[in-house]
Amino acid sequence: MNNLLRRPDAPLLNDTAMALAAAAEAFPVPPRHRAALPAAVRELSRLLTLDRGDRGRSAYWSVPRLFAAYMHYFLPWNLYRLAWLLPGLDLLSPPPEREIHLLDLGSGPLTLPLALWCARPDLRRRPVRLVCADVASRPLEVGRDALRRLAGPDSPWRVSPVRGPLEKALAGGCFHAILAGNILNELRPFRGEDLEDRLERMCAAMFRSLAPDGRIFLVEPGTRLGGSLVALVREVALKQGLHPIAPCPHAGPCPLRAAPTSSRWCHFVSTVPDAPESLLELSRRSRLEKDGLALSCLLLCRAAEQMAGDASRGEETAGGPARKAGAAAGRTPSPAGAFVRILSHPIRLPARPAPARYACSAKGLALVLDALSLPSGGAVRVLWPCPEERDGKTGALILRAW
Ligand SMILES: C[S@@+](CC[C@H](N)C(=O)[O-])C[C@H]1O[C@@H](n2cnc3c(N)ncnc32)[C@H](O)[C@@H]1O
Repeated sequence: MNNLLRRPDAPLLNDTAMALAAAAEAFPVPPRHRAALPAAVRELSRLLTLDRGDRGRSAYWSVPRLFAAYMHYFLPWNLYRLAWLLPGLDLLSPPPEREIHLLDLGSGPLTLPLALWCARPDLRRRPVRLVCADVASRPLEVGRDALRRLAGPDSPWRVSPVRGPLEKALAGGCFHAILAGNILNELRPFRGEDLEDRLERMCAAMFRSLAPDGRIFLVEPGTRLGGSLVALVREVALKQGLHPIAPCPHAGPCPLRAAPTSSRWCHFVSTVPDAPESLLELSRRSRLEKDGLALSCLLLCRAAEQMAGDASRGEETAGGPARKAGAAAGRTPSPAGAFVRILSHPIRLPARPAPARYACSAKGLALVLDALSLPSGGAVRVLWPCPEERDGKTGALILRAW
């Protein structure tokens, strides 16, 4: 298990800046909308974060000032967030010498394909067929133009836009990866079904359209709403025969499968040390200052593929070196590979000198002590305490990094 988030290196930051420039060229802010851009960003931010049931959410792609706000604020921040996330994910290892087939659901201006081009230089010379699906066609055209500007006219990446609901794109094909960025909150009830039914249908269709060793990747804002939608997808996906590769350190029930009112949900945060000054300035002028980025995400594969992989790697068992070291320390050691995933911010616990952090573990919600230096999304190996100690308030298992 790897740390989930990584500060982007210089080449990735450079390529991300080029992607931002390509997107800005593909959709320059019309002069009459320049002064009003911060207000449009605020308006769109409010629309995008309304709960999905709220009918006040409008078709923002058909409103030029909101389209401009997406291209010059939301797409850049999404790209920047993905630059932290994609390099650490086992998203795509297609067989050599074959065309790679990718499907991006709710593609909008091709944010995820642009981010993938930046994060995966190893794929740039590979033939890639990108099926980009969206109910709106104009952002697909703009995104296609942006990708062409970024990748150059000789790029072997071919875009096939599909205008229509995601079910249409999922009806045929066999994909090495199915991507979906910031779309869950926009899914509307269909023929009277509830959200869970719709997600179940979506997961079943994704399963059918996935190559045997393929991956499904979802990313949403790290808000309570984004986190709870991702957790719901996880729950239905597991019933459909899918397995969580990341960020989860286990395939059991999500300890944070929160009711929408819960104070905890699965999300990860990073700072924004390298964000472009122009973007920070637009955030300030829009009164949406950012002191960090937050995201929720899920990477899935077929459960059968995961089991075959575990068997061929011959996973170390609890009788190995980890057990001996733990016994010496007077605690029950974790089996090798029993990592926990550090969640978001550090917290202070009464009567503990150093901050702790919540973590997800195979034994449920945990609190890792002395965790100030552990990053959000960090993969940390622990010793299971014996006897178990639990936090009186939350019931979280108290753990220490090994
Ligand atoms: C917030 S945008 C995300 C765009 C892009 N994936 C990103 O991360 O920047 C959500 C997109 O989902 C599209 N969308 C909403 N409902 C959809 C559906 N049922 N099927 C396909 N696309 C849909 C919208 O038109 C919009 O382009």
